[in-house]
Amino acid sequence: MWEEETIKAAVREHYAKLTQGKSCCEPAGCGYGSSADVHLMQIGYSASELGDLPQEAVSMAAGCGNPTALSELRPGEVVLDLGSGGGLDALLAAQRVGPQGRVIGVDMTPEMIERAQESARKANAANVEFRFGEIEDLPLEDASVDVIISNCVINLSPDKEAVFREAFRVLKPGGRMIVSDIVTQDELPKFVRESLAAWAGCVGGALEQEEYLQKIRTAGFVDVEVLQKSAPMGVFPIVSITVRAVKPSITGARMA
Ligand SMILES: C[S@@+](CC[C@H](N)C(=O)[O-])C[C@H]1O[C@@H](n2cnc3c(N)ncnc32)[C@H](O)[C@@H]1O
Repeated sequence: MWEEETIKAAVREHYAKLTQGKSCCEPAGCGYGSSADVHLMQIGYSASELGDLPQEAVSMAAGCGNPTALSELRPGEVVLDLGSGGGLDALLAAQRVGPQGRVIGVDMTPEMIERAQESARKANAANVEFRFGEIEDLPLEDASVDVIISNCVINLSPDKEAVFREAFRVLKPGGRMIVSDIVTQDELPKFVRESLAAWAGCVGGALEQEEYLQKIRTAGFVDVEVLQKSAPMGVFPIVSITVRAVKPSITGARMA
């Protein structure tokens, strides 16, 4: 119905406005209109996690789960955050992987990249970098990261197959992906599906849960499991799920 570039322009504009302090999320799935800390604790962040971070990163957050907390990150790992926004999850991941590890956030909204870089400077996080780019065409080498996280972003993509294909490409064999995202539990009204504002608010582009999981499997991931699922959110039949999936240790290898 909409050209992919039209959707992306609407999404980019929406999140650029969020950096200017305008409410991001009507008719929202992702994020909130006010009281960032309360919203973040409702979706799984702890007060101690949030207390350690620059207020700018906390106030810019627009997620729907806490994928970092469920990623079992280990010191020294390389982490990629798809759609890193204001940088909250990347900064939390950076604390967990420590100075021997590294975190790369990718986002297509320049204003968000600037905010995230500023927060990283304030947090003295030397092991985090933010790259401008699209998650359908990641600016990373093949098999270069141990863990992918993402928080309320993939629903915004008009080409979710490409996102999961790219995630699979850049993960090392045996690597894992933990994503929180919005999925639907029933048909959305036609006017919602046709609304660019609803798409940018994390509702209009959401897939039905099983279709979402199937796209992850089609990209080559195995052991796809739903770790968490929220109660229905708001007036539309949507929920937030956190999914874990693994890239097999040996892909496409033939036995001699
Ligand atoms: C709902 S916000 C979530 C931000 C962050 N993950 C968080 O939890 O606060 C969505 C972010 O994804 C970015 N984004 C959306 N579609 C994208 C795409 N196709 N490629 C790269 N970034 C994208 C937006 O610019 C925005 O910063």
